[in-house]
Amino acid sequence: MTLITGASAGLGAEFARQCATRGDELVLVARRRERLDALAAELGGKVHVIASDLSKAEAAAELMAEVERLGLWIETLINNAGFGLTGRFADIPLGRQQQMIDLNIRTLTTLAHLALPKMIERGRGGILNVASTAAFQPGPGFAVYFATKAYVLSFSEALHQELRRKGIRVSALCPGPTRTEFGQVAGVTSQSFDRFSADAPAVVGAGLRGLQRNKAVIVPGLTNKVTAQSGRVIPRALMRRIVASLKL
Ligand SMILES: NC(=O)c1ccc[n+]([C@@H]2O[C@H](COP(=O)([O-])OP(=O)(O)OC[C@H]3O[C@@H](n4cnc5c(N)ncnc54)[C@H](OP(=O)(O)O)[C@@H]3O)[C@@H](O)[C@H]2O)c1
Repeated sequence: MTLITGASAGLGAEFARQCATRGDELVLVARRRERLDALAAELGGKVHVIASDLSKAEAAAELMAEVERLGLWIETLINNAGFGLTGRFADIPLGRQQQMIDLNIRTLTTLAHLALPKMIERGRGGILNVASTAAFQPGPGFAVYFATKAYVLSFSEALHQELRRKGIRVSALCPGPTRTEFGQVAGVTSQSFDRFSADAPAVVGAGLRGLQRNKAVIVPGLTNKVTAQSGRVIPRALMRRIVASLKL
């Protein structure tokens, strides 16, 4: 079974479509149950819907208990749910930023930890953690979000290495701007974000292919590959200024 977090919109809904097409049994998770139900009806086949606010401390454990109750085990975990917030760190309410850390980091980590024992026991499985090209540089004006994605990238690479001889694939998918509800939720106003946005199907296709090949880091699209590598040649002090000047 493939469990997809954040499946009610954007990349998560597209992961559901592409995984359903290849015949996976699915568990779809997000807060908006009606969206998940509609998607499940569209997909047909074996699709389970679990509504959960994954920023809550107990959510990951409750979700895993529900998966067990359904008699399922997670062969592929797509840790996709996440959100960002633009603005100056000091101006954004702390509670919202803590929710972001809880969702983007804590729940993602907990789900991986809870899913792994069965994968290790069976000697197969995959974890696709959705990071971002934001993982490769500091993000003034988007500080906590960029930092959460740096965590996801670092964590995923380390897990990839730990598990590579155990038959378990672990990849970090690092999309650049992509047409989803992300920009609206984050409060992105920059025109260039939209102009340079990729379409979700291409990003998701690259993610699933990359996980299949057990690539540690997947950066879809040429522009994003250049962005991801630019930290090798651009000094960090200059990189900070460049990102700040983008005024996302
Ligand atoms: N789009 C981009 O430009 C871009 C670029 C790089 C990385 N990413 C990453 O891609 C991932 C998917 O984002 P997206 O672009 O597809 O954005 P999106 O269209 O806004 O979708 C976000 C998904 O996460 C779910 N979610 C948000 N808060 C949640 C919570 N507390 N509990 C459970 N689910 C929650 C949402 O469902 P509900 O609201 O129904 O809960 C929704 O299904 C995120 O990790 C994001 O950081 C996006």
